[in-house]
Amino acid sequence: MSDQTQPPVDQLAAASLSDAVPKHDFSDRVPIRSILARPDGGSGLAGRRARVGGWVKTGRKQGSGSFAFLEVNDGSCPMNLQVIVDSAVADLGLLVPTGTCVALEGVLKVPPEGTKQKIELRVEEVVHVGPVDPAKYPLPKTKLTLEFLRDVVHLRPKTNTISAVARIRNALAYATHTFFQKHGFLYIHTPIITTSDCEGAGEMFQVTTLISEAERVEKELIKNPPPSEAEIEAAKLLVKEKGEVVAQLKSAKASKADITASVAVLTKAKENLSRLEERFKLKPGIPQKDGKIDYDHDFFARQAFLTVSGQLQVETYACAVSSVYTFGPTFRAENSHTSRHLAEFWMVEPEIAFADLKDDMNCAEAYVKFLCNWLLDNCLDDMDFMAKNFDKTCIDRLRTVASTPFERISYTEAVELLVEAVKGGKQFENKVEWGIDLASEHERYLTEVKFQKPVIVYNYPKGIKAFYMRLNDDSKTVAAMDVLVPKVGELIGGSQREERYEVIRDRILEMGLPLDPYEWYLDLRRYGTVKHCGFGLGFERMILFATGIDNIRDVIPFPRYPGRADL
Ligand code: 4AD
Ligand code: MG
Repeated sequence: MSDQTQPPVDQLAAASLSDAVPKHDFSDRVPIRSILARPDGGSGLAGRRARVGGWVKTGRKQGSGSFAFLEVNDGSCPMNLQVIVDSAVADLGLLVPTGTCVALEGVLKVPPEGTKQKIELRVEEVVHVGPVDPAKYPLPKTKLTLEFLRDVVHLRPKTNTISAVARIRNALAYATHTFFQKHGFLYIHTPIITTSDCEGAGEMFQVTTLISEAERVEKELIKNPPPSEAEIEAAKLLVKEKGEVVAQLKSAKASKADITASVAVLTKAKENLSRLEERFKLKPGIPQKDGKIDYDHDFFARQAFLTVSGQLQVETYACAVSSVYTFGPTFRAENSHTSRHLAEFWMVEPEIAFADLKDDMNCAEAYVKFLCNWLLDNCLDDMDFMAKNFDKTCIDRLRTVASTPFERISYTEAVELLVEAVKGGKQFENKVEWGIDLASEHERYLTEVKFQKPVIVYNYPKGIKAFYMRLNDDSKTVAAMDVLVPKVGELIGGSQREERYEVIRDRILEMGLPLDPYEWYLDLRRYGTVKHCGFGLGFERMILFATGIDNIRDVIPFPRYPGRADL
């Protein structure tokens, strides 16, 4: 019976083979990933129609110009789709230059034996060409250094490396939200513009309209000089006269129309006077009061900055809704020219109520492991690219970190290990003794040489850490923790927060900070205080760690550092 109701098998196959490959949901083409990232490499789609769009990586004419091979990439995956275009279909000279944009329709075919492609597109129609003049294209086909690419930040996403970094970065952002959502954290948007200095390190960019306002006034005063005192006096006199006219008309019981008309004239005179007085007050330069800049005139009527961390603000939510995180851009005006620092970078900052330093370390470790596993599960093709081109060990590193418990040592133990290393002949540029802030060379020694895995250092001297960290019972150290990883050094900085009102108030004063700006923060301790902790993961540092790329300027789409802020 079933033989009669179902079409013969070969008919079924023919019907599905002539079908077009499903297009992207919101654009008129098939993402190349959905062809090439299949387990069969795309060969199962042979015979099906597809329209693809992308940019030519390499193009070459063959068969005395009778056809051309193009390697097309659309950024959906690191692989290129090979396409073959006949000279009867298009002007091949227009298609082959590197960088050309093409939209192509055709049929997928299995290439002849012996080629490395599993599938290729035989083009029947060229739907779109965005041409490139190869003599002018700023990205020549030769291997380009990452330094060179920093000078063409608007074109560098067209390179294999920068697009792979973009996909890895995207995957890590998705993984971040997945991890915290899975564990019941609320995503809180903390402000970019802030009036609190979280780290107290004085590395903040100021947000002000005073300078542009001063420039505007200066220009305006040149074009349109302010009124003289005599002009002001004349205007005042006019107001007085017009006022008298109104008074006279009223006492003479003049007609309503006459009074109304004279009041209108008086109003005009008053308006003119106040306009002149306003302009008279205009002074070139930045407004001052008592020899200091007068921020009453600034946009927010007080000094404001770009945030260095969303922590203090996110604590207000942790102390109300328990488990929260913020993930946003942060800004530091430190003049560092290192390969680990940016002036604008992204930070992931969870904050957990009813949790202590140990919970903090557990969360940090679980999160970093989750990110590593996510890349192994979702980004292996891009990770393979990184392993081939930048760091042979990057995939193994992800596997090791995902599967090995992190080492946990106190700061005091860390210093002892470093002193031991120095005794054994290891040379550091920076002196090692209890109380120092660990330098990058020390951190990297611990994680790369001594333990060869991530290390969490905890309980740092209070003198080198921020005011908000919880004072330990020894009164010398605070419940801080840094996660150090190979390749990078410090990936995460966090702490248990000081929840005791008197203790934190004294710490603020002890560090020479003013109490007033922190009153709202102290309120969190005055009203319903709770044990809590959190940390900040430098998102770009995580990408450096994952990819093995050396410079942080190459793992953020638009790097900002001293002297540089393109686009
Ligand atoms: O150690 P940091 O300064 O910690 C904080 O800002 C805390 N308020 C975080 C918290 O507890 N919520 O910065 C956290 C991380 C560092 O470990 C590092 O990975 C990264 O941010 N980082 C930078 N990344 C790039 N460029 C810079 N200039 C960075 N400064 C810090
Ligand atoms: Mg730190």
